[in-house]
Amino acid sequence: MTEERKLTNAQFIELQDFIYKKSGMFFPLSRKNYIEQKVLKRIETLDYKNFSDYLTILKKELLQAEILNLFNEITVNETFFFRDQPQLEALETHIIPRLAANGRKSIAILSAGCSSGEEPYTLAMILREKFPHLPFTICGIDISDQVIAKAGRAEYTRSAVRRVPPAYLTKYFIEMENGNLKFRDEYKSGVSFKKMNLMELGASPGLKFTRFDVVFCRYVLIYFDRDSKQRVIDAFHEKIADNGYLILGNSESLSSALGNFKILHFPSAIIYHRSSAMEVLT
Ligand SMILES: C[S@@+](CC[C@H](N)C(=O)[O-])C[C@H]1O[C@@H](n2cnc3c(N)ncnc32)[C@H](O)[C@@H]1O
Repeated sequence: MTEERKLTNAQFIELQDFIYKKSGMFFPLSRKNYIEQKVLKRIETLDYKNFSDYLTILKKELLQAEILNLFNEITVNETFFFRDQPQLEALETHIIPRLAANGRKSIAILSAGCSSGEEPYTLAMILREKFPHLPFTICGIDISDQVIAKAGRAEYTRSAVRRVPPAYLTKYFIEMENGNLKFRDEYKSGVSFKKMNLMELGASPGLKFTRFDVVFCRYVLIYFDRDSKQRVIDAFHEKIADNGYLILGNSESLSSALGNFKILHFPSAIIYHRSSAMEVLT
């Protein structure tokens, strides 16, 4: 690789700033090699000669599709079914029963940063099995159109389903010829997916009048800096109905940004509650 194809610190800062403004994700200098490798892939695909040409196209937004291609490349999409069991137990034993006790006749869930669909389908299985008479909608959103397309195909490796209880695996999945498992179409009702940038959640016309009872946003904001985290948390506060809940990744501490939410402690899980004086306490 020639020097021209190495990312300089100044170029890295330009990219860092562009990615941050567009997505809220903040990549510190310590992740320069990661970004360099990912952008290099894009440069090779597009047959560009160096980083400067690529940066010019990107920053002038001459190729709109390239912004999406870059996000597809740099986002970390790691996920699997039944991730963070203690939070799912809190959903089953506390959150849904409490929402039902407060008069909810149906439950609306947002899976923000849903990646390839493992989280929304996990929630769909739990709701169907544990609350068979409670209708639900689960909306999965992600900035990457590649993972959203994958979520729609709903085809998974054995590794992705490794934590699915055996009885659920038999009921909800069908084995494919290549050994992968497909989430059965008949159980997809109520679950939808949409490519959407969390930084635009507040302004999104598609979700303008929607209020969610529960928002899951796990292992997404770890890539955001303080200001963009705050902006997303504030948008969640707007989008979560009174007495609704916010669930972040288990190790994510956002205490300073969560002033408007009340913290609830569960065994091995922390959940955030959007309180209202009208709530029925059980
Ligand atoms: C590590 S995955 C987490 C998946 C799932 N929530 C879980 O806990 O298993 C993070 C996802 O967040 C998405 N993401 C990152 N920035 C985003 C943004 N600004 N808007 C929407 N999704 C975003 C990524 O594309 C990625 O699929």
